Amino acid sequence: MEINYKIENNVAIISWNMTTSPMNVLNDISIPEFESHLQNAYADPSVKGIVITSEKNEFIAGADVKMLLKNNDKDPAETYKFSLDFNNIFRRLETCGKPVVAAINGTALGGGYEVCLSCHYRIALDNPKAQIGLPEVQLGLLPGGGGTQRLPRIIGMEQALMLMVEGKRVNPKEAHSLGMVNDLASSREELMDKAIKWVLANPNAIQPWDEIDKKTGAIKARENYKVPGGNVQSPTGMRTFAGGTAMIMDKTKGNYPAPIAILSCVYEGLQVNMDRAIAVEVRYFVKVATSREAKNLIGVMFLGKNEADKGASRPKDIPKTEVKKLGILGAGFMGAGIAYVSAMAGIEVVLKDVSLENAEKGKEYSRGLIKKGIERGKTTAEKGEQLLSLIKTTDAAEDLKGCDLIIEAVFENRELKATVTKEAEPMLAEGGVFGSNTSTLPISGLAKASAKPENFIGIHFFSPVDKMMLVELIRGKETSDYAVALAVDYVKKIRKTPIVVNDSRGFYTSRCFGTYTSEGIALLKDGVDPILIENAGKNAGMPVGALAVSDEVALDLALKISGQAIKDGALGEDDTTYQVTKLMVEDLGRLGKKNKKGFYEYPADGKKYLWEGLAEYFPVAETQPDIEEVKKRLLYRQVVESIKCMDEGVLITKLDGNIGSILAWGFPAYAGGTLNFPDFVGTETFLKECDRLADTYGERFRLTSQQKELVKTL
Ligand code: NAI
Repeated sequence: MEINYKIENNVAIISWNMTTSPMNVLNDISIPEFESHLQNAYADPSVKGIVITSEKNEFIAGADVKMLLKNNDKDPAETYKFSLDFNNIFRRLETCGKPVVAAINGTALGGGYEVCLSCHYRIALDNPKAQIGLPEVQLGLLPGGGGTQRLPRIIGMEQALMLMVEGKRVNPKEAHSLGMVNDLASSREELMDKAIKWVLANPNAIQPWDEIDKKTGAIKARENYKVPGGNVQSPTGMRTFAGGTAMIMDKTKGNYPAPIAILSCVYEGLQVNMDRAIAVEVRYFVKVATSREAKNLIGVMFLGKNEADKGASRPKDIPKTEVKKLGILGAGFMGAGIAYVSAMAGIEVVLKDVSLENAEKGKEYSRGLIKKGIERGKTTAEKGEQLLSLIKTTDAAEDLKGCDLIIEAVFENRELKATVTKEAEPMLAEGGVFGSNTSTLPISGLAKASAKPENFIGIHFFSPVDKMMLVELIRGKETSDYAVALAVDYVKKIRKTPIVVNDSRGFYTSRCFGTYTSEGIALLKDGVDPILIENAGKNAGMPVGALAVSDEVALDLALKISGQAIKDGALGEDDTTYQVTKLMVEDLGRLGKKNKKGFYEYPADGKKYLWEGLAEYFPVAETQPDIEEVKKRLLYRQVVESIKCMDEGVLITKLDGNIGSILAWGFPAYAGGTLNFPDFVGTETFLKECDRLADTYGERFRLTSQQKELVKTL
């Protein structure tokens, strides 16, 4: 039994309590059982009404994501039937002739909240941690259980669209003020009491959109229901759709089909009666549910990321480790961030810098974040004090005694890193691990300063540390499985996503991300209009244009990295990035955002704009390429480099490659990450295009026959 059924005071109580799944979810097991309980309640003449609730912490967390992924591979006709059957349950429920109340005892998301929407009345337990909403869009889907039709009819189009298009979740109090639930209860007892009372007091409950025509005795054939805030054709309605379309296109550039499909569902559905409206929704649901975008968002961004979060790349057979005391060398920008996220996870932190003053400055950073958190109601002063008490500042190496892990985040200088490694390593507890947060220096080289290179590892955070969810762990030549396991356990503890890669110039993430900026620079040198380069990057789904992000990272840094690669023989003197950044930095003194002069100008009193002087050094060609071609160059470069990383063994798993590309540098999630990209565009097409791009623009797009074979197995 997944769902309990009992009758109390002539009211059927249908109470979810799944045993086959840790949370109540709608799936192949629970849906038929739910339906059969409902049928019993409809058929039993002694039952005056129904209350739907749950015995777990949550009400119903949503549809089983694995079931949704299965829909993606099915014949659309099968998904159509599935969706129609699913909706019929809800439609029968709201037209069963007996009052039905949702007693929402906890989180009700997606299909879980759609159950509530098909009830005649909704009461929620006022638990500030519970979440209510229709977040399907985040999986590339739309609410497919009538949500796109019922929510706008209940709370109005504008609010409903905002919630559905952004997939926003709200707590019960907010849900109440928006009209998503009708009433609140302060305890489970009160919740059930109110629910049963409502059922008994409203024997003739009916959905407002199902009014009976007094003459014919049937449900009014045409949409007769006044949508709160105005119907589709009203001035507000028209404004909502025009504004909504513009906002979605600005955000998604048309790369994600679900938000526009939600808009269409509401637009079409609100002009017809509920039965036809459901048919509209089913039609669009099938379209998005079988899309590649949904497959990638569910398969990679949801299920894949979950796997990575659980430590999919952790070496097996190493007993669980725990970092209780963490040392951080360097309380600068990165060190301060690492201290904050670690203390947040309850880890004791020793934050060391060259002076106590510097170390204190690093701790100030946590104070600032806590202050913001309190202002936004995300934390309390008491919790903030607790967190701060975990961060000890120091300038003395002895204070690092007994650390399970030490992470150095001092200046990016090989000699300095060697000195601090030698000084701090002896302070480690037995079995302690030393990590470097270097962004460019190969780990195997840095490990030479270590007395225990097997316990030396790269722990690469991204900035800003508190916001960026990925941590790239880099195995040096001698790094042991034990050190990797400890680092993975630490990353899990601070609730970030770990990926594990092998050592390489720029590791995986910086190396591949660098190809985006360098292709942007190559396009500039080829005479492509800079505004086209930037627009193409964003249209392809990258968060920032290639030239803008080059400015942000700093052009002198790009020059330093490419210069070092030339010295090491990895690049030739004619490298485009080297040539262009050399000109920008050495001849023109343009270092990027940091000196307010780069590819862009950064006026003190306004928004950045592309530097007009660029045209003098990089003349804009008379004939410009099609935007699709520019997008291709920008995306394919990153994908080709990721395939090379896989081929060379820098990447160990496809999952890490995909998750890393999306979380580290914002490669488009709709494509499922760099290594899913060939499948997204079609493997054969991808391989042909790589050859064509290589023939046209250079060998950097060329894949070897071995790499081509590898692509076919991805
Ligand atoms: P930063 O310049 O903000 O901080 C460096 C800190 O190290 C300074 O506070 C300095 O006083 C301190 N320091 C210098 N010598 C020291 C010593 N002997 N003992 C203790 N502390 C000492 O630098 P940032 O940006 O925090 O970078 C630190 C490391 O993180 C670098 O290796 C950098 O490449 C890497 N990194 C930086 C990222 C970024 O976006 N800034 C991203 C990922 C990695």
